[in-house]
Amino acid sequence: MPGDFDLVKERVDIVQLIGERVALKKAGRVYKGLCPFHAEKTPSFQVDPDRRRYHCFGCSRDGDVFTWLEEQDGLEPLEALRVLAERAGVELTTRRDPAERDLEKRLLAANDTAHFYFRQALRGTERGREVAAYLEGRGIRPETVERFGLGYAPDRADGLLSYLRKKGYSDDEAIGAGLVSKTERGLWDRFRDRLVVPIKDGRGRIVAFGGRAMRADQPGKYLNSPQTQLFNKSATLYGLDAARAAIRKERAAVIVEGYFDTIAMHQAGFGNVVASMGTALTEDQYHVLDAMRIERAVVAFDGDAAGQASAERRGSELARQVQRAVSRAGRGTVTARTGLAVYVTVLPNDTDPDELARREPDRLRALLAEAKPVLEFVIDRIAARSGLDGADGRRRFLAEALPLVADEPDPLTRELYLGTLSRLTGVEQEALRREASAPAARAAPEQRTAVTTRPPAVATETWAKQTASLERYLMALLTRFPEETARADLAPGDFDDPDLRALFEYTSGRHPSSELPAHLAAIAAALGASAPEHGDEFDAGQAIEIASLRLREQNLRRRLRAARERLARAEDGDVGELDGEVDSLGFELGELMKRRERHTVLHAADTEQRDE
Ligand code: UTP
Ligand code: MN
Repeated sequence: MPGDFDLVKERVDIVQLIGERVALKKAGRVYKGLCPFHAEKTPSFQVDPDRRRYHCFGCSRDGDVFTWLEEQDGLEPLEALRVLAERAGVELTTRRDPAERDLEKRLLAANDTAHFYFRQALRGTERGREVAAYLEGRGIRPETVERFGLGYAPDRADGLLSYLRKKGYSDDEAIGAGLVSKTERGLWDRFRDRLVVPIKDGRGRIVAFGGRAMRADQPGKYLNSPQTQLFNKSATLYGLDAARAAIRKERAAVIVEGYFDTIAMHQAGFGNVVASMGTALTEDQYHVLDAMRIERAVVAFDGDAAGQASAERRGSELARQVQRAVSRAGRGTVTARTGLAVYVTVLPNDTDPDELARREPDRLRALLAEAKPVLEFVIDRIAARSGLDGADGRRRFLAEALPLVADEPDPLTRELYLGTLSRLTGVEQEALRREASAPAARAAPEQRTAVTTRPPAVATETWAKQTASLERYLMALLTRFPEETARADLAPGDFDDPDLRALFEYTSGRHPSSELPAHLAAIAAALGASAPEHGDEFDAGQAIEIASLRLREQNLRRRLRAARERLARAEDGDVGELDGEVDSLGFELGELMKRRERHTVLHAADTEQRDE
């Protein structure tokens, strides 16, 4: 790899590379032009083809082909190496298996071809022009449509498939790229009668598409490409290629939920915006941003009713996610960098970034500037509903907030928040510190892994079997340990039993009233009494997390089975959609399995440690 940099530097013509962006004139042995890094009227920027470097005598900016791309396009050094190696036709030594690389190239090319087809259809078909009018109606300007490469997938079973065949792609390649689905009845275009959004990776290569429904009867508002060799949804940030340079420059990123939030914000001049594609921010996405060595990421939650109601839950889920990512990133390194700080803002009632960017960009800017660190955000929310005036309220508040702070992997941050908790409750910081580091409360993540990642002890396992069903077990835990509700990544619909579902709506704060109806209160009391106790052998938060993953998995498997059965019976016209549904359920299940695996792996490591 080190030799690669030298080889590439030797092969790339730096005058030509920089000449693509700066008008250069030969002046003796070197080339001169107006410096791109600072404003000037007489050229003091020089490119030296022999030394293969550039230098500005005005602002002293200085570098080579790699720093040029890093500065201009916001690329990481290794990415700059890859881009330039390709340009110079240099094979990098650390490249992967050539067969795999060739396949990847073919799939990327297939995506580019499909992209051309989708863009043509937006202008060249009648329905496409209706979709273009829809975009215009949403306030998206033609140049934005161009910039984000939006297109239209016609309502045809094999329009794209025939086009790809004509362009020399094999059916396997079309399927491998996720553009065409294979069913028992043959091959079908995956995207049909949908507005198409190309999803690019950080280097600007199209790795997937998102398809927005254009009719009310289409199942799923968005149908995305399936997981492919090119596309890993949970590590992808939509818009990163467009946002990269601005994120670097501002040392901050804004994370919104939707494709169109990103697009509208870019159009309104917010250059550093990416979308998380559904969830607030995954661990992988955190690492992608953290690797850019920026200071902060602001997550903007939608202000619709669901968004407002679940803000605290999503905030604490996000805080946990960030804590996990941070402790993972810091593990084993000598110089623990504090890393990327994550902030949260909740948009006003019934607004989303898309709408605010169009109507009130200044207000949106102010809201982003006022975002709070995610931990502070959650603590504030808990404090606001705990009633800190009374001793009881303060105790409840600490029971919920202290574990969150105790899990903060960065010792300085942890101290700062202990100070906050102390100020809010009047309990001495030293006492809180002691409580926070006691294994029963919550220990530092390393310790936590060792002490508490064990699955619920044997006694609890048998207890779980004795309870009629998994959802009853889970609900019992939630009733007994309401402060751990954030650990249950569930929607009410995950509960089959209508009483349990209603109870979950109350306990997770989704119900507008907090007054439990009598029959639910009775069920809650019975369930709570049967739940196991917190103790050395048993960590309730962990048990809730595992049980809720299990419940979701169980439900997903059931839905997947049902969708497959429907697919087998489907009429031709429905096959594409159903196939998409099967794909996305399969994808979701895969993601879930990965999360469950993490618990199992931690557990295995823990067992080994304990056996020593
Ligand atoms: P939204 O429904 O908020 O999407 O979902 P949006 O982009 O704002 O859509 P518009 O404004 O109604 O056109 C947020 C994101 O969640 C993912 C997509 O990435 C979407 O942009 N999503 C949503 C899916 O993948 N599938 C879905 O069915 C819905
Ligand atoms: Mn939207």
